[in-house]
Amino acid sequence: MSLRLGDVAPNFTAETTTGTIDFHEFIGDNWVVLFSHPADFTPVCTTELGFTAKLKDEFEKRNTKAIALSVDDLASHTNWIKDIEETQHVAMNFPIIADPDKKVATLYGMMHPNESEKFTVRSVFVIAPDKKIKLTITYPASTGRNFNEILRVIDSLQLTANYSVATPVNWKEGEDVVIAPSISNEEASTKFPKGFKIIKPYLRMTPQPNK
Ligand code: BEZ
Repeated sequence: MSLRLGDVAPNFTAETTTGTIDFHEFIGDNWVVLFSHPADFTPVCTTELGFTAKLKDEFEKRNTKAIALSVDDLASHTNWIKDIEETQHVAMNFPIIADPDKKVATLYGMMHPNESEKFTVRSVFVIAPDKKIKLTITYPASTGRNFNEILRVIDSLQLTANYSVATPVNWKEGEDVVIAPSISNEEASTKFPKGFKIIKPYLRMTPQPNK
């Protein structure tokens, strides 16, 4: 059965480009983005890994660690990193899991055999400090991911974990949010001292509470 939101991210040990990890220990008290790549030395993956390395400060601001996976071995990853650094003009700053026997890729449902017998698809898992899966996204090999969107979702996940709100369509950090339907207007008056607007009884907007 595939992994679903709210499931505990399965633990594993694996070799990575920064040493052997126990995945739950790696998560620790952080948020984690685990993302798979079809193969080393491929063009789209090279741009994705370079861009993610450039987002180091953005990940740190969000107490979030990135970790990539590709079903090639450690020696291949180490050589590929040289190309990533050269072509994307960045120093790699997060681990890539070596998964030549597809152990982790299979555990996480990253192999989609009707798409490819050999390579993973582009899976993304966002995992919270409680080790639970909060977001899954799957892209085909031919489409590079939008990592700004992944940061945007992390902002929403971290906000909605702490306040009784949800984020509306295309929301970005700093914009108004929706008050959770479970909150009465009376409760909303105390929870949201900046005030709120009732557009419909079920659609109430308030300024982002932690800004
Ligand atoms: C790429 O990363 O460029 C790629 C990998 C597999 C299939 C197509 C593109």
